[in-house]
Amino acid sequence: MMKRIGVLTSGGDAPGMNAAIRAVARTGPAYGLEVVGIRRGYAGLLDGDLVELGPRSVANIIHRGGTILGTARCERMKTPAGLREAARQLEKAELDGLVAIGGDGTFRGAQELSKLTSVSVVGAPGTIDNDLYGTDATIGFDTAVNTAMEAIDRIRDTAEAHQRLFFVEVMGRTRGFIALNVGVAGGAEEILVPEVHTDLDALGANIRAQLAGGKRASIVVVAEGDDAGHAFDIAHKMCDGLAMDYRVCVLGHIQRGGPPTARDRLLASKLGARAVQALAEGRSGVMVGEVCGRVVETPFEETYANQKELDAELLQLLKVLAR
Ligand code: F6P
Repeated sequence: MMKRIGVLTSGGDAPGMNAAIRAVARTGPAYGLEVVGIRRGYAGLLDGDLVELGPRSVANIIHRGGTILGTARCERMKTPAGLREAARQLEKAELDGLVAIGGDGTFRGAQELSKLTSVSVVGAPGTIDNDLYGTDATIGFDTAVNTAMEAIDRIRDTAEAHQRLFFVEVMGRTRGFIALNVGVAGGAEEILVPEVHTDLDALGANIRAQLAGGKRASIVVVAEGDDAGHAFDIAHKMCDGLAMDYRVCVLGHIQRGGPPTARDRLLASKLGARAVQALAEGRSGVMVGEVCGRVVETPFEETYANQKELDAELLQLLKVLAR
C-alpha cells in the first residue's frame, strides 16, 4: 500500500521543474500520500538529504525557474555501489514511491534503481533539450526556445544595423531540437544541428547567395553539439571565404533560467500530477509524457534507447522561409 513518496529533480535544471514539484506535493495528499522532497537529486538521496513537503511548502514557486530542491549530475549513481546505497536510502526513508524529474541520465539511474528495490519509481521529463522519446515536449523546452528566440530578436536588430553575419550558439550537446525550433521561430537564415552533417563550403555558398539576393544580414543558429564544432570554430573556419563582418554569440546557460512559459507550467502541472496518480495506481518503471495532447506512460528504457526524430518538415520549412 502506497503511503509515502519522494520527489527529486536531477541533471540540468529546467524551467518548470518547480511547477512539477508543486504538482507532486499537492497531488500526493489528494491520494492520501505523504510527500518528501529529496535535495540535490540522486546526490542528496545518497546523503539522506530529505525535507517534508506539504502543500504550503510549495507556495509561490510555480513561476520560478531553477528547482527549489536543487539538482546535481551524480557520478556515484553510475556505479553499482552508488545504486545499492540509493536503494538503501529509499528504504531507510520509508518511501513507497519516488517521482524522478529529469532527463535521460535521470531515467537511466531510475531504471537501474528500480531493479534493486521494491520502491516504485515514476519519471517526469524535465530538460531543456527535449531529447526524450515518449513525450512531444519536455518540461523546460518551450521556455528555453522562447528565451533563445528573444535573444535572436535582439541580435537581429544589431546584425541588420551593421550588415553583419551572426553565429548564435544554442544548447544541445547531442540533439538539435532547440536550434531547429528557435531557427524557425527566430527567422534564422541557417541552422546547424548534430543530426545533419555540416558542409561549411555549402554553408558559405548559401550565405553568399543570400547576400547577393539582397539580404543585409544573416543569422546562423548553431547547436553546441554540431559536427563542425562550436560556433566560434565554425565562424573562424568560414570567415576567410566571406567578405562580411561577423560576430559570434553563445547564449549558454541563459537558456536554462527564468520564469517558465505558460506552456511549460501547464505541462509540468499535468505530468507532475499524473506521475503521482501512476504511483498511487501501482505502476512503476515508466516516464509520464504528453503525446498529441494525451498523457501517456513509456517504460524508462524506451525513453532513452529510442531516438526521437527531428521534425523533417520543419527543417525543410526553414530552408524555404530563409530565402
Ligand atoms: O542537458 C541540459 C543542458 O543544458 C544541455 O543542453 C547542455 O549541453 C548541458 O546541459 C550543460 O550542462 P552543465 O550545466 O552541466 O554545464
